[in-house]
Amino acid sequence: MAQSLLFSSKTICSNHFLKGEETCGLSNVFKTSLGHLKLSHSCRSTKTTTCAASQPIEVPRQWYNLIADLPVKPPPALHPKTYKPVTPQDWSPLFPEELIKQENSDARFIDIPQEVIDVYELWRPTPLIRAKRLEKLLDTPAKIYYKYEGVSPAGSHKPNTAVPQVWYNSQEGIKNVVTETGAGQWGSSLAFACSLFGLNCEVWQVRASYDQKPYRKLMMQTWGAKVHPSPSTITEAGRRILEKDPASPGSLGIAISEAVEVAAKNPDTKYCLGSVLNHVLLHQTVIGEECIKQMEAIGVTPDVIIGCTGGGSNFGGLAFPFIREKLAGKINPLIRAVEPAACPSLTKGVYAYDYGDTAGMTPLMKMHTLGHDFIPDPIHAGGLRYHGMAPLISHVYDLGFMEAFAIPQIECFRGAIQFARTEGLIPAPEPAHAIAATIREALHCKETGESKVILMAMCGHGHFDLPAYDKYLQGSMVDLSYAKERIQESMANIPNMSQK
Ligand SMILES: Cc1ncc(COP(=O)(O)O)c(C=O)c1O
Repeated sequence: MAQSLLFSSKTICSNHFLKGEETCGLSNVFKTSLGHLKLSHSCRSTKTTTCAASQPIEVPRQWYNLIADLPVKPPPALHPKTYKPVTPQDWSPLFPEELIKQENSDARFIDIPQEVIDVYELWRPTPLIRAKRLEKLLDTPAKIYYKYEGVSPAGSHKPNTAVPQVWYNSQEGIKNVVTETGAGQWGSSLAFACSLFGLNCEVWQVRASYDQKPYRKLMMQTWGAKVHPSPSTITEAGRRILEKDPASPGSLGIAISEAVEVAAKNPDTKYCLGSVLNHVLLHQTVIGEECIKQMEAIGVTPDVIIGCTGGGSNFGGLAFPFIREKLAGKINPLIRAVEPAACPSLTKGVYAYDYGDTAGMTPLMKMHTLGHDFIPDPIHAGGLRYHGMAPLISHVYDLGFMEAFAIPQIECFRGAIQFARTEGLIPAPEPAHAIAATIREALHCKETGESKVILMAMCGHGHFDLPAYDKYLQGSMVDLSYAKERIQESMANIPNMSQK
């Protein structure tokens, strides 16, 4: 059985939706020179923005916890040795107390500390933009809106959780944090947050992205972080992988093992995770809370909500507050996750207890998984190369409150180029999956004549992903599809709980 280092080397270790056209006058919504409706764009002097009916949209004061409203509570994480539910003491080598409380909280809303709000106000509220030019290109009656998180300093939604995670660690006297990163968006977000609160930051970056994205590494270094390619020779977990495959491209699962090992072995060091866990998804709900207000302000209700899923945090962040409204019977949008065809945990994985990392050091979590030792092919959406899905998203999927499908990368880049050439923004390869799914839906609307409102999570820009665009534009990008045999092999290594 995989070694459980974490648990051996330390102490054991109301909204009111209106359906219809936007009716805002100029006093309500300000029209950009591009003709987009820029709703609730951040205004640094007052921290608020004038929206419909002169209602100011503020940065949310609370995060929303979907668990409080679910008819069935999600299955608990289990200790990998005793198979009993994980206790707060079990988590404590990795996380500060406040985050452990949030991880296990049943509270519906959790107050955001003022110090965190002060930092959020550097880029929040983020804009909700109507993609009119894309609609025109597609000749669709659908109305496409996107909530754009690329305005954060690191260029994605990831600082929404990096900032509170680092802040809670700083409040409990922690000086060093470690993490993994795939695309580099999460690592750079954590490096940014550490630079604000004066913590040391060390990052294991998945080898494939470390090589493909040198500028992300430089961003992390600019914000003061130390960056290692993963697998590395620094950790036992990394050395074990390199012994088997010296040219391993790495994976998020391996990089998590490395960072968790370092945190578990060093009492002065905690671990931060950029996705998957409940507290991470909780922090991201600022996206959906703002978006609900912004859509209310223009009298628009989403019919379809689309987001890409790696570990599930940007998707959950946008969708969960809308699912609350759906469960309350106020709206009934389709909620749709999009994953890469090369790493389809929701659509092809099994719903089972599995480790969050490759080496098997983390608690067992019930999630949709391709097997913890599955190493996805090096697709360009590095942030979507994770073998599992957030337990909370997996649970919501299992309850039937959302749907999922997988798209190959060439279609995603085709969509990203159409988006860039109409809307101007160059998307990161991860939200390019959401764009491709949005285009599919908009073209379906063209066939049926429906004027659905599509809301899309545009979770980051791709300014440091241009080598991937180069590949697409040169015609040398290939589709790395579902590695059926390798996935079957790794699924065979998922712990068999019936024998425990
Ligand atoms: C821009 C971007 N989008 C999406 C993701 C996927 O993560 P999640 O599913 O947690 O949003 C990542 C992960 O690194 C990312 O960098």
